[in-house]
Order: sequence, then C-alpha cells, then structure tokens
Amino acid sequence: MSAHVTPSGEKPLAAPDLIRMKQRGQPITMLTAYDFYTARMLDEIGIEGVLVGDSANMVFYGEPSTLSITLDQMLYHTRAISRAVKHALVIADMPFISYQSSTEDALRNCGRMLKEGGAGAVKLEGGEHIAPLAARLVEIGIPVMGHIGLVPQSIHQLGAFRVQGKDSPTAEYLKRSARALQDAGCFSMVLELVQADLAREISHELTIPTIGIGSGPECDGQILVINDLLGLFEDFQPKFVRRYAHLAQTMREACSRWIDDVRKRAYPSDEESYR
Ligand code: KIV
Repeated sequence: MSAHVTPSGEKPLAAPDLIRMKQRGQPITMLTAYDFYTARMLDEIGIEGVLVGDSANMVFYGEPSTLSITLDQMLYHTRAISRAVKHALVIADMPFISYQSSTEDALRNCGRMLKEGGAGAVKLEGGEHIAPLAARLVEIGIPVMGHIGLVPQSIHQLGAFRVQGKDSPTAEYLKRSARALQDAGCFSMVLELVQADLAREISHELTIPTIGIGSGPECDGQILVINDLLGLFEDFQPKFVRRYAHLAQTMREACSRWIDDVRKRAYPSDEESYR
C-alpha cells in the first residue's frame, strides 16, 4: 500500500484534487483548526481543507495580531492536525518572517512544515513580489497556496482591517498578483476581504481555485476561522462571519452549572464515585 493511501483505502486529498473540484464547479470548503480533536471532527464530516492558520496567535493564544507566532508554535499545531486528518488537505500557514527574510530560510522553514509538521501544503501571504519564491518552492515539490487581499501579517502597513480592491490601483495590483501567483505554480489562493465583484472577476479568470473569506459568494471555495463560526471568539464579529453556534455562551453556562453543583455538594453523586 502506498504511503498516500489511508488505512481505509481512501486517498487523502492533494492540491490537484482542488483544481479538479473547481473545473467541476464544486464549492471547496476549508476551516482553520489548531488542535487534534477539532481537526479530526472536521475531517470526519468531509471538509476538503484544514488550514493551520497563524490566526492561532489571536484565537488560541490571545495575542492582538498574527505577527508574533513562531515557527515552532506553528509546527506544534501542524503536527497535531496532521496526525488527526486522514482525508483533507492540511495546509500550514507560514508565520511572519519565516519566509520573507531569504529564499534559504523560506525553503528550510516551508520544508520543515512538510517534513516535521506533516502538512500537505504551505500558505504564504503576499502579492506579486512573493511569486518568484512561490515558484522556487513549487519547483522543489512544496505545494503553495497564495493569500492576497487583506494580508494580516502586513497590518502595520495597511493600518486597519478594511476591504481591499475598492480603488482601481489596488484592484489592478490584486489582479496582477493573482495572475503572478498562478503562473508561479500556486495550486490555490485565499482572497481575504476582497471587494466581491473583484473577487468574482479574479475567480473567473484563474484556473486555480480561489478560497474566499469576506470576499463574497463567487469565490470557488470558502474558509472561516473556526472560532468565529462556532461563536467561541467573541471579541468582535466582522460582517462576513456567520455564527453557526454560540459555544462560548454554551461553555459559560455549562461551567457555571458545574461550579454551582460543586458548591452545593451536588457533584459528584454517589453514582459518579468509586466505593
Ligand atoms: O490564519 C488564518 O486563519 C488565515 C485565514 C483567515 C485564511 O489565514
């Protein structure tokens, strides 16, 4: 049996499968995950991609931006996700300054995400200037997902989280970047907070799938940060986030009931004890 066949005989998804889904007009689903059990659940319900996002720095570690997460932290989370996922494509987000400093650093660090992290692909933020690096990574066998539009690692340059591509120089830059990344061999591209008509135009022009977040309904797939979807992250709610659950509230209520029960000596019961 090949190393690329799961114990159930099922082949894990790879980058070309997502391109085929676009050709067939099938919407691609991706969510972020940071821990083993969440990733296993997502895989079991048939998601196509699990992104180990550097958003972990905000929703897992409570930091104000994605900037300070380290390669070791990302490797730690990526290893857990890769062990859990049998079918979906695991994509490891490359943290700030793990790939921008030099080509050698980028090759080594992206390579570690596949060798040590077990990921099937890496994701790099940035426009046309990233294309030569993406091409080099693809050349040595590392599948690369691009990420354009709002690029949170450049938040200090952008100044604020705002919709991208509303003015024509930015729209032209995003179109050029999308083409350059596709030409570099990227298998897919996140469009984050891109004005919806522009996201549709880019999606129609590219042959590789676009995965939108806050970029309207006409991207080839959609991704959300799982803590947003589940209502676990309550600090703010961007307009594009639809909360499918209110887990923070459910957790507050459950834990409060447990605290009350302990204080009333109603937990543990005799049935929950060993005599
Ligand atoms: O880090 C992350 O979660 C991401 C998604 C928002 C695409 O990059």
